[in-house]
Amino acid sequence: MKALVLAGGSGSRLRPITHTSAKQLVPVANKPVLFYGLEAIRDAGVREVGIVVGDTEAEIRAAVGDGSRFGLEVTYLRQDAPRGLAHAVLIAREYLAGDDFVMYLGDNFVVGGIDDLVGRFRTDRPAAQIMLTRVSDPRAFGVAELDGDGRVVGLEEKPEHPKGDLALVGVYLFGAAVHEAVAELKPSGRGELEITDAIQWLIDHGHRVESTVITGYWKDTGNVTDMLEVNRLVLESAEPRVEGEVDDASELIGRVVVETGARVAGSRIVGPVIVGAGSVVRDSYLGPFTSIDRDCAVIDSEIEYSIVLRGASIDGVGRIECSLIGREAEVTPAPRVPKAHRLVLGDHSKVQIGK
Ligand code: G1P
Repeated sequence: MKALVLAGGSGSRLRPITHTSAKQLVPVANKPVLFYGLEAIRDAGVREVGIVVGDTEAEIRAAVGDGSRFGLEVTYLRQDAPRGLAHAVLIAREYLAGDDFVMYLGDNFVVGGIDDLVGRFRTDRPAAQIMLTRVSDPRAFGVAELDGDGRVVGLEEKPEHPKGDLALVGVYLFGAAVHEAVAELKPSGRGELEITDAIQWLIDHGHRVESTVITGYWKDTGNVTDMLEVNRLVLESAEPRVEGEVDDASELIGRVVVETGARVAGSRIVGPVIVGAGSVVRDSYLGPFTSIDRDCAVIDSEIEYSIVLRGASIDGVGRIECSLIGREAEVTPAPRVPKAHRLVLGDHSKVQIGK
């Protein structure tokens, strides 16, 4: 079995966090979401991985390399433009060489990995096996309709009037029959070859398509509440480790990770918390479910249940909660007179100010 990981896309969804880099590299607990996918693939016993890349190829290559540090053999497959998930299968045909494969969308996060899914596929050998999850806005996903026995009877890509709330998770298992399906497809309304249509083609042509409903799924839809929640889930199982410096005036409680080169001084950290390499935390309090990325500074401040991305600095601002602070952002107190909030916010930013 091989894996086909999709890490292309135009990055056209402009959001405060993803517009500066590939959406697959958005960090969850200081690690790119793509890496969790690659680890899940490896843990399911798959070694050969084709990564489909587009305009952000350089960034993805710089992050993943040849895959050896994940225990994988990575081959990069360039897609000339974002022409759809089924188009990615089309261009990977030679690489896949008729083998079974798991297709994994690099911006999807599945809590608990994919061992069970892969195990079931290897035993049952359907033409395709899909994962479904209940979502609040199915219109943003492929949507599956099941019959009374839980069999998939129909699929629709981003329907205006969804026939249910079961969305297609971006992890699919296929046997060689999918190549036949993909070769028959015509571009959809959004001008892409849809994998959803390929699976529908398999159903229509009498092939067996199995499904599993899962919980513990996340994808960056720009919803900060969801992002904080997935960060919490991952931090909950973090193994405590202190590789950086922590001075005697500091106190670490519970699951706290202090990465290499990070410095904690005069501070209290109540885990689960991760402090990334090269970051400084001084005279501050970090509370549960907080991820501080690399090269940040948290000085004379309190932060809880928040994500702070690379190179951000927070200095002398009192307490911050339930927040997502972007790369290289600076949060500082306003001059005392006049008493006013002074803001420089990126596009699509959201700020809630305590009165
Ligand atoms: C794609 C699929 C959709 C699926 C989703 C999961 O959508 O077309 O069926 O539900 O991934 O991430 P896209 O990311 O292209 O909008």
